[in-house]
This record gives sequence, C-alpha cells and structure tokens, in this order.
Amino acid sequence: MNRDSSIRIAPSPSAIQPAALRQFLYDTYADTPKLLRVLGSLRPYVCPFDRLLPFVPAGASVIDFGCGHGALLVMMGAISRISKGIGCDIAVPALAAARAAARRLGLEDALTFLPVHAIDEVPQGPFDVVSMVDVLHHVPLAEREAFISCAAARVAPGGVFIFKDMTTRSRARQFAHQLDDWMFTREWVVPVECEEVERWASAAGLELQYAEYIPRLIYGNELRIFQRPLE
Ligand SMILES: C[S@@+](CC[C@H](N)C(=O)[O-])C[C@H]1O[C@@H](n2cnc3c(N)ncnc32)[C@H](O)[C@@H]1O
Repeated sequence: MNRDSSIRIAPSPSAIQPAALRQFLYDTYADTPKLLRVLGSLRPYVCPFDRLLPFVPAGASVIDFGCGHGALLVMMGAISRISKGIGCDIAVPALAAARAAARRLGLEDALTFLPVHAIDEVPQGPFDVVSMVDVLHHVPLAEREAFISCAAARVAPGGVFIFKDMTTRSRARQFAHQLDDWMFTREWVVPVECEEVERWASAAGLELQYAEYIPRLIYGNELRIFQRPLE
C-alpha cells in the first residue's frame, strides 16, 4: 500500500458534505474488501459526520472511543484539524484497517489506533476533543454510565465531548438502526436514551452546549456537544 497524496477533503466547511466525504472514504479505504469499502463510504449519508466535524477546533488533540475503522479520525486528520488523534476499539481487525487508512494519507505519525479490552485502558489524556459515535448502544446497559463518565473524565478544561447515537424519538427510525445493527453484528441493540447521557455527562462536570436531531434517509441521529468549563 502506497501513500496517496491525491486524496483530499477540501478544508472549507461548506465542502464537508456527505458526497465529498463518501468519495474521500472510498479513496482512503482502498485496501478494504470491496463490499465493506462501498458500505463504509456510504456512511456519511446516514451518520452526520459533516455535522460533527465543525465542532473540532483546529489543532485539537482527540480521542475517539470505539473508533471502528477510524473514519472519523482520518477525516479530522485529512482536513488538518487535529494535532494528534488516538482511536480505541475492542475490534482488532477494524484497527488494522484504520492504520492502513492513516498510512495511505500520510497521517501515521498523527493518528494512533489502540486495542482496548476495558474502558480503563483508554489513555487518560486530557484531550481537547473526546468523541463517541454510535458506540454506546453496543455497551451493556449496566456499564453505560461508567462509559460516559470515563469519556467525560478525559475532556480537558475548555474541551468538548462529541456524542452521537441513534434516536429514540421515532420508533420507525430506531427500528431501522436496530435492524441495521442486527444485519451487521447479529446484535439486537438497546437504544440509548439521550436524556440519560445528558444527566451522566452533567454529573461528570460537562455542560451541554448543543443538541440536534438529524434524520438521514430512514435513520435518525441524536448529536450532543458537551463542554468542560474552563477552570
Ligand atoms: C457502529 S461502530 C462505530 C464505529 C465508529 N465510531 C464510527 O462511527 O465509524 C461501533 C464500534 O464500537 C466498538 N465498541 C463496542 N463496544 C465497545 C467497547 N466496550 N469499547 C470500545 N469499543 C467498543 C465496536 O467494536 C465498533 O467498532
């Protein structure tokens, strides 16, 4: 696999749109088996990465909980928003794909992908940005509060916690997510109640800055941006 310097996302926020991100991901994951590559590249039409990225301050240090194939971090790296990024996941093959994508973009020094077996293995930071996209619904109910507290604890003063998960406000859209997860993981997931996440984040010292419901195709997304106040 060679570095491909022709792969770009234009840095202008108006250019960070699902179609541009689709092309970027398709080009970046050239080493991934074809079906996964195509499905992964279509994710920006379902998951609103374009709405998350503007909350990443330029030069930020980032940790992405449950990074999967690393799509969010390679996008952040490609638009030169971040100084360093760490992705953590329990899925080792996904991390290999993430590393290959980072190498293809020449971002292997900036992006690190780590296997974790337990939440307390995640590096302590603190980080300017902590992100968690479509992960919490995979975490057992009894462990979700600790998962959010652990993420919140890694947010630096003035830093942000970017949280995105499936919606529960539309039964039909929630069902679409559950069916999607079942098809890909054979897991019937229990959706996340965002009010609980807001309560847990608040208990961990974060303030809710922004909340948005973002329907995409047959799916529905809940985006929350929290911030740790400056000391
Ligand atoms: C739907 S994927 C989302 C991947 C990535 N965040 C994205 O948006 O492209 C969910 C990811 O969460 C990971 N995951 C699930 N439980 C986890 C845990 N306890 N710790 C770390 N990662 C976890 C899975 O391995 C999977 O890669």
